[in-house]
Amino acid sequence: MSESYSSSLITSGLQTSFIGQKVVYYPYLPSTMDIAREEAGRGTAEGTVVITGEQTEGRGRMRRTWLSPEGNIALSIVLYPDIAGLPYLVMIASLAVARSIEAVTGLKTQIKWPNDILIGGKKVCGILIENDVKGNRVDYAIVGIGINVDLKASDVDEISATATSLKDELDRCVLRATVIRHLLTEFERLYLLLPEGESIFKAWRARLDTLGKRVTVSSGGDVLEGVAESVDESGVLSIRQSDGVLVDVVAGDVTLRDN
Ligand code: BTN
Repeated sequence: MSESYSSSLITSGLQTSFIGQKVVYYPYLPSTMDIAREEAGRGTAEGTVVITGEQTEGRGRMRRTWLSPEGNIALSIVLYPDIAGLPYLVMIASLAVARSIEAVTGLKTQIKWPNDILIGGKKVCGILIENDVKGNRVDYAIVGIGINVDLKASDVDEISATATSLKDELDRCVLRATVIRHLLTEFERLYLLLPEGESIFKAWRARLDTLGKRVTVSSGGDVLEGVAESVDESGVLSIRQSDGVLVDVVAGDVTLRDN
């Protein structure tokens, strides 16, 4: 039986000025991304958060599905950044998740490029960003965050080897509302730093566990192997192949090889 979960539980005592000041809660939804997009289309306040207790058609990066049964965190945040702010959203979201998990649970997290949050090398959180951009204008950006809180990863064949959850790690329950309040507070603190994006980039790069490692990267049907040499401020990862050629990857999936 899950803890009680509602919008007022999230907003009560939330010390932010705009992120999470409006929370739209549904007991279950296909995907929070779609409702967040509808909210954005109606011009909802920046920082509006759509949360669901159970997501039935959650989606992940690269057209994958994302499992979020009851007991886990599935939320989307509506933002209206400048175009220059877009590359930093991935960094803000992953830093905010990593820091909030550490603050609430004491567990150590890593960030795998570009935005997977890991505990002990296993994925505990995924982040999906969907933007509506017209020319140089961002109509809206939706940051979707899924955190495995009360998921027994070993019971789910597709993810048993690669995923974990807060409960798997701690062997006790964690209140979703506590994690979310920390997350939204940290998200706002970082988002307000956007005019100095470089500091966000440096903090994110410092926590990436990918740099300097031998990796395999799948990107748009291609598979690359090499050493993850550097990332730039727009989030592009440079891979040094064994033939010495440096290849830039804008989006993809990284697997760490035996390092
Ligand atoms: C990934 O790692 O592939 C990204 C997963 C993102 C999942 C979250 S859960 C909340 C939001 N709603 C969705 O349908 N997806 C994102």
